[in-house]
Amino acid sequence: MLFVFPADAQEVDARIQQVMSSPHALEKAQIDGKKAAYFCANCHGDTGNSAYDYIPNLAGQHPGYLLNQIRKFADGRRQDDFMSGMIKVMKDEERFNIAIYYSAQTVQPAAANESAQAARGKEIFRSICASCHGPQGHGSQNFARLAGQHARYVSESLDKYRKGTKERNDPVMGSVARRLSDSDIAALAAYIPTMK
Ligand code: HEC
Ligand code: HEC
Repeated sequence: MLFVFPADAQEVDARIQQVMSSPHALEKAQIDGKKAAYFCANCHGDTGNSAYDYIPNLAGQHPGYLLNQIRKFADGRRQDDFMSGMIKVMKDEERFNIAIYYSAQTVQPAAANESAQAARGKEIFRSICASCHGPQGHGSQNFARLAGQHARYVSESLDKYRKGTKERNDPVMGSVARRLSDSDIAALAAYIPTMK
């Protein structure tokens, strides 16, 4: 089945809608996805909550967003030594089911942070980030879920966008990230992991 590659995003959306609207198909995709994710779980965690601060949580991400990032790793628009190689050897069906499985898991946010730095992060989030990532940071098909993401992963990702190297050079996030100072990024990284 070739609906992720080379199918376009609309075909992928249609397939996601189809599976989400059928309780039976959804359950099957989740069961198959959990099995196919046994290797991913070493790094991203059984329930998509990673135990490593530089590895993103996948729990609660929209399946369309996850599949889009998988496509980017596969075609080189996003580069990571490990992910880029591994994604290429996976079957489409596995990619799809894994995305459905992780999207249905619940992310475990970090404990509340009462610092002035986190309060400033909240203000920056409201004024710059909420318009795309959602007021609660829950994301969507096109925009990553940020709520509950690891601090180090958030700050390293923002730095990659700011530098615009081949590791991660999305033009939209690039123009957002270039407006942020180091202390803005530190403030956002204090606040975002605590969002529920
Ligand atoms: C050896 C550790 C490791 C394993 C195993 C691993 N990943 Fe990853 N994954 C990473 C790292 C590190 C990143 C972040 C790379 C970056 O910053 O661009 C990542 C990023 C991702 C992302 C992007 C998430 C986002 O928020 O944008 C997806 C999707 C993903 N991995 C899926 C998978 C899947 C599916 C598997 C199993 C088939 C898997 N990974 C196995 C380490 C791993
Ligand atoms: C105009 C829309 C827009 C705005 C505003 C925006 N983002 Fe994004 N963001 C995106 C898109 C699109 C992506 C996915 C880019 C990609 O494919 O790499 C993204 C991805 C990200 C990621 C990577 C998440 C992951 O799981 O890998 C982080 C971190 C992020 N944004 C943080 C922020 C922060 C913090 C702000 C506010 C300072 C912000 N964004 C504002 C559109 C936006």
